[in-house]
Amino acid sequence: MLFNSIFAVACSLAVPAAAQLATGYQLGPPTSSSAKWAVKVCDVTDYGAVADGVTDIGPPLLAAFTACKSGGIVNIPLGTFAMATWVTLDDGVAWGINFEGTIVRTGTAGGHMIVIENSSDFELYSSRSSGAIQGYGYEFHSQGEYGPRLIRLINVEYFSVHDIALVDSPAFHLILDTCTGGEVYNMIIRGGNEGGLDGIDVWGFNIYIHDVEVTNKDECVTVKNPSNHILIENIYCNWSGGSAIGSLGLDTDISKITYNNIYTWSSNQMMMLKSNGGNGTVSDCVFSNFIGHSNAYSLYIDAYWTSETLQAGDGVLYTDLTFSNWKGTCADGAVRAPIMAICPTGQPCDGITIEDFAMWTDTGSSEYYKCENAWGSGGCLVGGSAHTAYAITTQTITAAPSGYSAAKMPNDLASGFAITASIPIPTVPTTFFPGVTPATARAYP
Ligand SMILES: *[C@@H]1O[C@H](CO)[C@@H](O)[C@H](O)[C@H]1NC(C)=O
Ligand SMILES: *[C@@H]1O[C@H](CO)[C@@H](O)[C@H](O)[C@H]1NC(C)=O
Ligand SMILES: *[C@@H]1O[C@H](CO)[C@@H](O)[C@H](O)[C@H]1NC(C)=O
Repeated sequence: MLFNSIFAVACSLAVPAAAQLATGYQLGPPTSSSAKWAVKVCDVTDYGAVADGVTDIGPPLLAAFTACKSGGIVNIPLGTFAMATWVTLDDGVAWGINFEGTIVRTGTAGGHMIVIENSSDFELYSSRSSGAIQGYGYEFHSQGEYGPRLIRLINVEYFSVHDIALVDSPAFHLILDTCTGGEVYNMIIRGGNEGGLDGIDVWGFNIYIHDVEVTNKDECVTVKNPSNHILIENIYCNWSGGSAIGSLGLDTDISKITYNNIYTWSSNQMMMLKSNGGNGTVSDCVFSNFIGHSNAYSLYIDAYWTSETLQAGDGVLYTDLTFSNWKGTCADGAVRAPIMAICPTGQPCDGITIEDFAMWTDTGSSEYYKCENAWGSGGCLVGGSAHTAYAITTQTITAAPSGYSAAKMPNDLASGFAITASIPIPTVPTTFFPGVTPATARAYP
């Protein structure tokens, strides 16, 4: 509690964006991991797990959880544990999983390898920053198939997930489904270079995701409906699909989302808001301090996103959104505009602010911006109070905007990971955005 409130103050001084978290609510587990260790330790090896890479850890993990679910730590020690059957860990309180070793997937069922459901005061972490799940997704992907997702938290409140690596999921890596008061940090996610392998998908209330690196070819860190008060910062999309809000449909109810310090390299987009029909609102969101290099799209609102089946409704209302301090380059700004604001004809966007936007093109010597039904200031947005539908307008830029040049991360990935070979388990990095120290030090220095 004390730590969290001090931390929240420190953060709000350094980063105004922290205002998007709700004040007066618990963030993270109220009980420290050391207090949980003192209550009870349920080591999976005492429940039948063997670090031989063959014996199924599924039943021992469930048994260890059952013994520690009302307080304590489920410990997965160093070593390689095979997982052949999946677990749902339901209804825990004041507990945690300390995860030192590697779980390698050997089972082939769909669904999720680990579901944590209906828990409060929960921590999933590695005190050595060494815990990893190796999904061996390539065994599916090389056959043109998908398999299970790695981890899903459902209806979990006051929790943290940190200092672990999620590698080569057969499908999505980490899903936070209807969660509250959570913190996710110091994570690395390494998926194959194809769609359908999302990094982090999150929806809920009051969640702080920071200092995360994602490689894949789909969602980096993406907010889904419904959500409010979510702060996402220091994110490194190191060859990914890029981050997004969506895809959105009926009854969209998203507000107070901040993305801050987002570095995106060789991805589909830096930030995309995507819908196709639908209704409801995305409002009061901030997208600040973005650096992009060689992405196909950059700032991209698409209310006619054809990869999504057309939904009923006049369109989602995008309102009161601020994009500020975007720097770097896009791959080819004459082909894919670095500003694309395509809003619904039946529900024009309003209150969109684009400021301090200096993105240039890697290829050629001109780029353009493209707007439709989008009201506000900056780029090709139309100002004023008419707030009516208008046809596509474009603006051509023939000289590099001043100040576009932006720092690069060391060792940006030169190409994606093949979907036909195993992906090596990386270590948790100590930097996720140029010049920015992670908000929390790695558990194991
Ligand atoms: C979680 O709680 C909800 C509501 O009580 C319940 O419907 C659901 O079955 C629980 N989940 C599990 C896995 O038992
Ligand atoms: C969206 O449309 C559905 C019917 O198509 C309606 O029931 C619902 O109330 C609408 N939601 C909003 C937020 O307008
Ligand atoms: C990006 O990913 C590549 C491939 O694993 C890695 O070598 C590189 O170190 C990563 N960059 C950073 C700064 O972590």
